[in-house]
Amino acid sequence: MTRTMFILTITSLLSLAGLAWGHGNVTPQSVNIRGLEELGEEWRDTNPYRESHPQHELAVDVGKSAYNQNCAACHGLEAKSGGIAPDLRELENGDYGDEWYKERVINGASRNGRVLMPPMANYLSQEALWAIRTWLETVSLETTGGN
Ligand code: HEC
Repeated sequence: MTRTMFILTITSLLSLAGLAWGHGNVTPQSVNIRGLEELGEEWRDTNPYRESHPQHELAVDVGKSAYNQNCAACHGLEAKSGGIAPDLRELENGDYGDEWYKERVINGASRNGRVLMPPMANYLSQEALWAIRTWLETVSLETTGGN
């Protein structure tokens, strides 16, 4: 196929993907959480994989890749928002940020019956979601000083 056709095909595939996200249809990518402490069914109130946790580093790695596969389409690569959804580097570190994070990933967000963010906890494990939070704290504006 010609180069132009190729580019057109890619562009239409991307816009189809965009539409699917826009309607809140998630194609969740499974997250390999092997090696991370299992947390059970009941949600923790605060991130269990903080610095003091023996698997903290692993959680950062797992979280980074899980974020790229499941959140970046809306929240932007490297958590730098392109404007579609809030910039997650602005979330506060620590317990207060955890509370807000937990509320959002469990309930998602919708307005006037339109799903803005699907309830991600329906698709991803608690372990995967806290791992994402662990990575997010490493790139937060509070941690990096705003870069
Ligand atoms: C389909 C797009 C979409 C996907 C996928 C998505 N989000 Fe969101 N998210 C949004 C939008 C839009 C908002 C803002 C909702 C509002 O305005 O009430 C939001 C809000 C949030 C908030 C609150 C931020 C704030 O500043 O108030 C958090 C935390 C969050 N998302 C985390 C995540 C995580 C973690 C993932 C991946 C596991 C994810 N989101 C996947 C669209 C998305």
